[in-house]
Amino acid sequence: MNVPLLDLKPQYQALKSQLDAAVQEVVESQYFILGPQVEKLEQEMEEYLEVNYAIGVSSGTDALLLALMALEIGPGDEVIVPTFSFFATAGVVSRLGATPVFLDIDPGTYNVQPDLVAEAVTEKTRAIIPVHLFGQGADMEPIMKIAQQRNVPVVEDAAQAIGTRYCDGRRLGGIGRVGCFSFFPSKNLGTFGDAGLVVTNDSDLYYRMKIMRVHGGERTYYHSVVGGNFRIDAIQAAVLSVKLPHLDTWSKARKANADRYREFFVEAGLSHSSQQIFPEDNYPVGLPQQMYEGEESHIYNQFVIRVSDRDCLCEYLRERNVGHAIYYPVPFHRQECFSSLGYGSDQFPKAEQAAKEVLALPIYPDLSSDRLGYVVEVFEEFYRK
Ligand SMILES: Cc1ncc(COP(=O)(O)O)c(C=O)c1O
Repeated sequence: MNVPLLDLKPQYQALKSQLDAAVQEVVESQYFILGPQVEKLEQEMEEYLEVNYAIGVSSGTDALLLALMALEIGPGDEVIVPTFSFFATAGVVSRLGATPVFLDIDPGTYNVQPDLVAEAVTEKTRAIIPVHLFGQGADMEPIMKIAQQRNVPVVEDAAQAIGTRYCDGRRLGGIGRVGCFSFFPSKNLGTFGDAGLVVTNDSDLYYRMKIMRVHGGERTYYHSVVGGNFRIDAIQAAVLSVKLPHLDTWSKARKANADRYREFFVEAGLSHSSQQIFPEDNYPVGLPQQMYEGEESHIYNQFVIRVSDRDCLCEYLRERNVGHAIYYPVPFHRQECFSSLGYGSDQFPKAEQAAKEVLALPIYPDLSSDRLGYVVEVFEEFYRK
């Protein structure tokens, strides 16, 4: 059997006629950039994410960049980010000439720890970027409290967490000053290329981000601020409008797969030994009582386990055609491009350990029981040996 890490073909096949028609409609209209499809998507996103304003942009990376530009972050400023995330979270800070300040993570949720955020805020801090990694929320309430006390805006990197609700029921991305999303094809809501979204409840910031999406020009060729080309294509917006009504169903299917993995792993005697740690909702520290009890408290963009013997296991999985990936093998503080920031390689032990142990397994909504069972079988075999 062959189990890919992600297979998007069944999703396409199920919606093929609607998706093809939506793309064809844009092609017939020959209206490719921004326009009515984008406005429609933005309204749908405002409703879905329960926010006042949504702006479609060119990617999740550009969503973060646009948010920081609109907040006027630049040289001399510090921005607090977890050291364990996708590169864009820290890359955008450096691209603006500001300094990313890295923090260790909570080993159970892989997200920033509010007490470390509080310690890291200085006079130079101009933003805090909590990342809701793998689809699980960072502990936003204490982070927002710290941010309010120090008058620092929070930019949520919700690229992997569209639809997740915080313990008070709010959708992630709508809690901080700005929320940033990615519609990269492998995300829970993925499009036919690159696209992203920024959301906010702040009307001034909305207006600023909206004009900065098109080079800071309120009227074409008249520029009040310097922006960029952060526009979303109409084709991507049309695809996303077809897919959005299915997102919660897909997230539930991912969660059901996570539950099945856990059941199977327990049956196989493989759960939570010193050699393997499988994710429970919120295991092992951090948010258990606080998190929202509903279906969407964790949308599983990835199902990430931790294993102490990862290299051997990866080899074994490869030989048996079980798709897997390591998100992320090198934390930011050890990336070559950030070496001038002077972090020690052993400075953030929890992120270091995660980087050595994490392993993502197939979790996509159309993963069949047979395929999921096969993954567990291969694990059982490996640990029996
Ligand atoms: C946590 C995180 N932030 C930002 C991004 C950037 O999104 P994009 O790939 O759409 O630019 C991603 C995408 O992988 C991500 O996972």
